[in-house]
This record gives sequence, structure tokens and C-alpha cells, in this order.
Amino acid sequence: MQNLVQQAADILAHARRLVILTGAGISKESGIPTFREAQQGLWAQHDPQRLATLQGFLANPTLVWDWYQFRLRLVEQAQPNAGHRAIAALEQRLPDVEVITQNVDGLHGQAGSRRVLELHGNIRRFKCLRGHGNLTMADLAGQASAPPLCPHPGCKAKVRPDVVWFGENLDYRVLQQAAADSEACDVMLIVGTSGVVQPAASLPYQAWKSRARIIEVNPEKSELSDIAHVHLSGPAGELLPRVLAVIGDR
Ligand code: OAD
Repeated sequence: MQNLVQQAADILAHARRLVILTGAGISKESGIPTFREAQQGLWAQHDPQRLATLQGFLANPTLVWDWYQFRLRLVEQAQPNAGHRAIAALEQRLPDVEVITQNVDGLHGQAGSRRVLELHGNIRRFKCLRGHGNLTMADLAGQASAPPLCPHPGCKAKVRPDVVWFGENLDYRVLQQAAADSEACDVMLIVGTSGVVQPAASLPYQAWKSRARIIEVNPEKSELSDIAHVHLSGPAGELLPRVLAVIGDR
């Protein structure tokens, strides 16, 4: 494995433009369950089609609101782990690093990463059904109803998490930026994603078509493993600091 760590470090150390695509796996070691791993996955207790969809919210707003409040509490108790911190450190060591994450937990920003594209939104941010955005729990304080109503004068529309639900489009500007950056990078590091959800799962193929070198960190094989030049099989919290340590010696 050390040889693969060395190979990954050699590729990353020479990256002119590094894009790091992350998924739920990088937050697992912060205590946040992933989506598709059996037993403990977030979906294990619930049917996503009932909860993480606009239809589900409209049919049962309190159930969906309460489930996201449960997930928000998990996120608020979580701390960035050594994998998040290693990624933030790479941004300091290398000339051009951007994180593109599918996660909604905000842990990359908390770890110190400054350039983060959140493809699927952020569970700490809220918006109302009429589009009034950038609401936080502080803006909703004092409302007993679940879900709360929009605090904008005269609005009163139901408030929902500002995350992408199944069947919804991603923010076009964010996706356009992510696609352009994936096409322009010369190295892509893929950490902790099964690579099954679109359009995020297409970004590595943009990099691959542009002849970028691709490194994957995941204890398992994923849908993206076939295009990875180096696959580091193990937890991100252990392997990313090892890669960083090798880079750091240069
Ligand atoms: P998944 O749960 O589909 O995949 C998590 C991946 O992380 C798996 O491949 C695991 O093998 C891997 N993994 C587990 N522990 C790890 C560790 N310690 N270090 C590194 N990798 C580890 O989660 P995502 O691929 O992120 O979409 O799921 C993508 C999207 O599906 C989510 O963003 C969400 C969901 O529907 C929306 O919410 C829109």
C-alpha cells in the first residue's frame, strides 16, 4: 500500500490544477452515516422517495422536516476528521485546489478548505417554497411549527432544507462551474463516493476525457474505480494524511 501512497503523492505533488470530488465516505469517520452502506446507511430507516423529495415534503412536511432536523443534529455534533483536514492542507501546499462535494454537512469548510463547491446544497441552510433563500435556524428561531414558515414579510411559505432532493435539478451555476473545473483539471482526487448519483458521477469522466490523472480513495471499489489510475483502498481519514506526509517531505 505504501507504494500506492507514494504513487498518489507523486501525482498530487505535481498537480497544476487539482479537483477533489468527495462523497459521504469522507464524513463517515466524523460519525455521519453514508447513504448506501447497508444497516447503518441513512436510508436504512427511511424510504428516500418519501423523505428526500419535494413530493414527499408536500405530502408530509412535518415528517420530512423532523428527519432533516435529526440529520442536522448529527451534522452539528460532527467535527471534521483527518481526511477533511488533509484536504484543507493540500489547498495550502498545491497551487490550485478546489473541492467539489456531494455532501451537505459543511465539514470541508469547517476543516479550512476555502474553495468548496457544494453540488447538493447545505443542510445548515434553508429556503422557503417561494425561493427566499439563505435562511439559517437563527432566522427561524421562536417558531414552534414544523416546518417553520418563511420569515420574509408577507411570505409565510413553508421552509425546507436548502439541499437538492431526488428529482430536483442542481444549481445550474454550481454544476456549470464543477463541470468546467473537472474538464480543466490535470489531477482529480475522488474520495468516498460510490459514483452512482448523477450528475456528480459524470464529473470524473470529464476529467478522464481531458486526460487528467485520477486517484480514488475508498475502502471499496466504486462505479468510478475503472477510470482511476491509482486506487487507495482504505479509509480517507487514514490514507489522506499518509499521502500528505509523503508530499510534505518534498
Ligand atoms: P454513498 O453512501 O453512495 O457512498 C459512500 C462511499 O464512501 C462508498 O463507496 C463507501 O465505500 C465509501 N466509504 C465508506 N467509508 C469510507 C471512508 N472511511 N473513507 C472513504 N470512503 C469511504 O454516498 P455518496 O456517493 O456520497 O445525494 O452518495 C451520493 C449522493 O447520493 C449523496 O450526495 C445523496 C445521495 O442520494 C443527494 O442528497 C442529492
